[in-house]
Amino acid sequence: MTLRAVAIGVGHYLPERIVPNSEFEKTLDTTDEWIRSRSGIERRHIAAEGETTSHLATHAARAALADAGCEADDIDAIIVATSTPDLTFPSVATMVQGQLGMTRGFAFDVQAVCAGFVFALANANALILSGQAKRVLVIGAETFSRIMDWTDRATCVLFGDGAGALVLEAQDGKGANADRGILATDLNSDGSHREMLYVDGGVSTTQTSGYLRMQGNALFRKAVEKLASTAETALFKAGLEDSDVDWIVPHQANIRIIAGTAKKMGISMDHVILTVQDHGNTSAASIPLALSVGKARGQIKPGDLLVTEAIGGGLAWGSVIIRW
Ligand code: UT7
Repeated sequence: MTLRAVAIGVGHYLPERIVPNSEFEKTLDTTDEWIRSRSGIERRHIAAEGETTSHLATHAARAALADAGCEADDIDAIIVATSTPDLTFPSVATMVQGQLGMTRGFAFDVQAVCAGFVFALANANALILSGQAKRVLVIGAETFSRIMDWTDRATCVLFGDGAGALVLEAQDGKGANADRGILATDLNSDGSHREMLYVDGGVSTTQTSGYLRMQGNALFRKAVEKLASTAETALFKAGLEDSDVDWIVPHQANIRIIAGTAKKMGISMDHVILTVQDHGNTSAASIPLALSVGKARGQIKPGDLLVTEAIGGGLAWGSVIIRW
């Protein structure tokens, strides 16, 4: 018998307000055509005034718990991947814990920017495999609209707000890659590329939250190079190949990065879950949002082999292989 962290529920939440690309044509030197053709984004959701990351996360958590048939008190740990917390502290995870009325277990945040959900999944897997938790609620939640410089056309048209959540449960597997659950993880970072994607403020520097700054084109090239390689490394660790993949569930930053990665892996775009057109880049929320939407659309089915992969500020990147 081998312990496996198996996904037993998934859910998501998106703020009500939808902003189409055409809105930006009113205030910026940009066009719907440029945004669509360069990024694949058509619209994004933006949180209402007063609607915070923990609110989005709690809505997504409730949906995932309902899907899993669990109560909050069945959960041993909550991990929230976010770079846009409500406050500097406490963690968004403890705020979600409080909002769910959960008084047992433990909760903490993971900060690996757009790769955050993959890092959170790997941490949740480690907690389950080491026997420290039986059920872990893993959430990706962001309000990137709060760190946008709305005068910078190169960044503000790309990001959106949202949250997605997954319930992982310890179950016995056979130790084979036909088992359900997380089959392999691959995490990486390289602190020498900090300037490619960062926020120009923070607690111990400016005492402000700052605005997102990005060298889009340089990051684009790094992304295509690193994403296929981390995905293939994780598949290799699981004893699997590109041809075994049912769905790539990628970080949704740019359709051209997603397509470039799939092409490098020799996987057709028919096997890629795409939400970038509707959500934009929601950073750590984008993979759990895509998992939840992919399941709701009837694309992701029990037994499917999923490859999640993401890259973001740090740089930090990685991949998690999940048998659904
Ligand atoms: O989630 C973390 C990971 N994030 C990413 O991986 C994002 C990676 N980067 C990208 O997705 C793409 O690089 C972008 C979508 C950001 C940009 O696409 P690009 O094809 O790399 O364009 P570019 O940055 O090379 O810019 C091309 C031109 C520039 O004008 P010049 O210098 O050629 O005259 C930009 O100033 O497009 C201009 N431009 C715009 N034009 C109209 C930049 N933003 C806009 C805009 N509307 N919104």
